[in-house]
Amino acid sequence: MYQTWEELEPVCMSCQKCGLCEGRTNLVFGVGNKNSKVLFIGEGPGEQEDLKGEPFVGRSGQLLDKMLAAVDLDRHKNIYIANIVKCRPPHNRDPLPEEQETCIEWLRNQVYLIKPKIIVCLGRIAAMKLIRPDFKITKEHGVFTEKNGVWMMATLHPAALLRNPHNKPDAFDDFIKLREKMDELGLEI
Ligand code: URA
Repeated sequence: MYQTWEELEPVCMSCQKCGLCEGRTNLVFGVGNKNSKVLFIGEGPGEQEDLKGEPFVGRSGQLLDKMLAAVDLDRHKNIYIANIVKCRPPHNRDPLPEEQETCIEWLRNQVYLIKPKIIVCLGRIAAMKLIRPDFKITKEHGVFTEKNGVWMMATLHPAALLRNPHNKPDAFDDFIKLREKMDELGLEI
């Protein structure tokens, strides 16, 4: 484990541990306040993220920012956002299990440095990797479980909400539950 961001970030940025590095424009390390207590984790960069080097900057990112704002959260102030894999999978396919397993080491190091109190998984892939392999996002979104002293919750992926807008109220409820959990834990924003 790297003990500082100054050590971790440059090594990660030049990662060639899996084949995804071959197709990347930019590695997408993460964005936000590294002292925040709430960490959001998506699946992997899409086209816009690969071009800009920042997570969730495409259409799904705009929706995510609006839902965050509704509960007083802001990617530049009081949360951190990262992904399971840091390089864009070709044609936005799901990251392969071996790509996830290789890349998650970087995420583990980020979690070690941030020490979040709450982790919110954005979508099925992150939930299955971080909460439980048989996690059912449609049934279990919005439910908090404690794992190694960290409260974990998954919500619907913003890209899925763009495809199925009728699910937006369910996702919004999850963000309200997140805000309630933050208040319950006395987390500063
Ligand atoms: N979808 C994700 O899961 N992550 C991103 O960064 C962008 C879109």
